[in-house]
Amino acid sequence: MVFRQAKWGEKVILEYPSGKPTFVIDEDFTDMGREYLSRLPQDIVRREPPSIPDISEVEVARHFTRLSQMAYGVDTGPVPLGSCTMKYNPKVNEEVASWEEFTAIHPYQDEETVQGVLQIIYELQKWLADLTGMDVCTIHPPAGAAGEFAGALMIKKYLIDKGFENKDEMIVPESAHGTNPASAVMAGFKVVKVPANEAGDTDLEAIKAVAGERTAGIMLTNPSTLGLFESRILEIADTIHSVNGLLYYDGANLNGILGIVRPGDMGFDVVHLNLHKTFSTPHGGGGPGGGVLCAKGPLKDYIPVPLVDYDGRKYYLNYGIPRTIGRITWFYGNVIPAVKAFMYILALGPAIREVAEIAVLNTNYLMKKLVDLPGVDLIYGKGRWRKHEVVISFDRLHKETGVSAEDVAKALLDRGFHAPTIYFPLIVPEAHMIELTESEPIEMIDAIAEAYREIVKKAYEAPEEIKKTPRNTAVGRLDLMLANHPRTVSPTYKLMKERLLRGEPGK
Ligand SMILES: Cc1ncc(COP(=O)(O)O)c(C=O)c1O
Repeated sequence: MVFRQAKWGEKVILEYPSGKPTFVIDEDFTDMGREYLSRLPQDIVRREPPSIPDISEVEVARHFTRLSQMAYGVDTGPVPLGSCTMKYNPKVNEEVASWEEFTAIHPYQDEETVQGVLQIIYELQKWLADLTGMDVCTIHPPAGAAGEFAGALMIKKYLIDKGFENKDEMIVPESAHGTNPASAVMAGFKVVKVPANEAGDTDLEAIKAVAGERTAGIMLTNPSTLGLFESRILEIADTIHSVNGLLYYDGANLNGILGIVRPGDMGFDVVHLNLHKTFSTPHGGGGPGGGVLCAKGPLKDYIPVPLVDYDGRKYYLNYGIPRTIGRITWFYGNVIPAVKAFMYILALGPAIREVAEIAVLNTNYLMKKLVDLPGVDLIYGKGRWRKHEVVISFDRLHKETGVSAEDVAKALLDRGFHAPTIYFPLIVPEAHMIELTESEPIEMIDAIAEAYREIVKKAYEAPEEIKKTPRNTAVGRLDLMLANHPRTVSPTYKLMKERLLRGEPGK
């Protein structure tokens, strides 16, 4: 398949010539507007008209259509970003979530008038509790990291209630996602790192060596960021529980075990899930995200409020959780992703375990095709099957040809594939972390493997060719220094506009 991405010399919308009158406000509305304005506190009334582009509809339509043609998403091709689980989002879920029964309601509406939405949240809470083996779940956190932070706060409050104020250490594997140590620190814990052993498991002996009186708990994701199932997870749980610590489960990698094993049965006390990963609700620009926080045993009394509950007659917002850490976001959380996740689970029913089965099959099929390529290695857990993702290392290729993991990623772009996650986890040099999910058909996996084979071959024959990629994409190879530098990247429109007015180059 030949890949050529659309390439438009499209301006930023603020650079379009402005000032053409494109919309005339009726006199009556203007009078009405003046009337309302006069009732507002005068110190908050705008002194000048807003500085927004004044361009015609056709220009706006073309602007955004061109931009969309230069974009790449999971509807264009695979996005195998390991740890980010970018699966296809079924259109029926998007359609249902756009019904006005969901989009035209307001969180301040009387509970009696939103019974349907509350029922969906209630059922979802129960299904997710079932899937994780936990007692209770809330859809409150707006993302996984928010769930981690809230979960760490629950652990903190529980330990204080139990008289364990001295427990101030959170154990985190070296391969963990950066949000894990960050959440632990924000909740007031000190992070104690533990390494992985050669087999790719979190080193149980290292955990035993650091677990003690000051251990508040451990934050783990299982399968790990290496895509491996922690084979000694029950012993890890016993070790932590034996020192009165708790186990936090980062559910970002649930896709590889969904419907097959449950964190609750592995000994975890608090769990977060990312609806925008395993449960097929859009990520990033298609967001907003949805986190879910679940708890078991005594920890369930600490869950954020409100939970959606049912009294046998009606659904209601339950604020009566005895030791709750309180609210962590507005209203009930991000409801629209919850509707999409509800639809995803409803559509799959008991077949939900096939998500994991197919995702695991896809990962291992690709791994088998990649491991024998020249210059490619599996650093940890050689000979073990992977779960949701596989991490390969191009360290040898880099040493032998000068072609780095980044160069290989750029060459993949030229062949029409989004690059996988690169340089993560940090413990694997020159890493590509590849997660196909259940979405990819075998023909696509073969095409990805073939692209890797061609790139590696080219790297040994003509490495300088790989270093010039990508050429077929809307944007060529960026100068990473400029692309990341605060003086050249404007994080807000306001800043960009100020820079444009000053004639500075930043975008
Ligand atoms: C392993 C892991 N944990 C936590 C997170 C944080 O989740 P979120 O992006 O939903 O905040 C991620 C995100 O990529 C992740 O991969």
